[in-house]
Amino acid sequence: FTPSILVGKKVLITAGPTEEPIDPVRMITNRSSGKMGYAIAQAAFNAGANVHLISGPTALATPYGVTIEKVRTAREMHQAVLSQASTYDIFISVAAVADWHIDNYTEHKQKKQDQQGLQLHFSPNPDILAEVAHLDKSPWCVGFAAETENLNQYAQEKRLRKGVPLLVGNLAQQVMEADTTTMVLFDDKGEEQLPTLPKDEAAQRLIEAIAKRYTSASIS
Ligand code: C5P
Repeated sequence: FTPSILVGKKVLITAGPTEEPIDPVRMITNRSSGKMGYAIAQAAFNAGANVHLISGPTALATPYGVTIEKVRTAREMHQAVLSQASTYDIFISVAAVADWHIDNYTEHKQKKQDQQGLQLHFSPNPDILAEVAHLDKSPWCVGFAAETENLNQYAQEKRLRKGVPLLVGNLAQQVMEADTTTMVLFDDKGEEQLPTLPKDEAAQRLIEAIAKRYTSASIS
């Protein structure tokens, strides 16, 4: 049973990794199966929301009832999100966005006999979540942070830096490609640790936590 806590709400979610091409056959990417973002999209739909998912490449089936837009690079994801974010009530940024793209991308495959090594030049990608959080008509924003150490300190710092009311932290070594997750919620009141749960149950708990905070923020 899922209470209809998000009926009439429009929810935008990013999920999965992004890919940054080196040449037509090679790329760099971030480790992300997309499972958490897809589970959150399903949980939001089950809670009555109108859900749109903007996803990097994953091997997952589209969640039931959810519309999906597939993208590849961080800059494609940035454009897809920014072109519509202000029409949504809630934005949940679960994607593991690549921090850089490769400036010296080549249209033709790099031949390994041409050179002893390959030098790649990286330029930063836009921070999608921070930009959405600073829009004039910004949806209520939720960010994620996978850290390998000092989770509490890094997550609260990240929440303030990005300008979002809620940031979900987890330890990268426990969550990558796993079917369970242990989430810690960081907001302006402090932190709340959730139990270790299968990702679909954790997603439902997170949607409840988001709905509670979103509702009190829209009333006040
Ligand atoms: O900046 P960092 O990757 O540590 O923060 C993670 C959070 O920011 C996640 O919610 C992720 O989806 C979002 N993010 C983003 N655009 C980026 C980098 C991260 O939206 N370029």
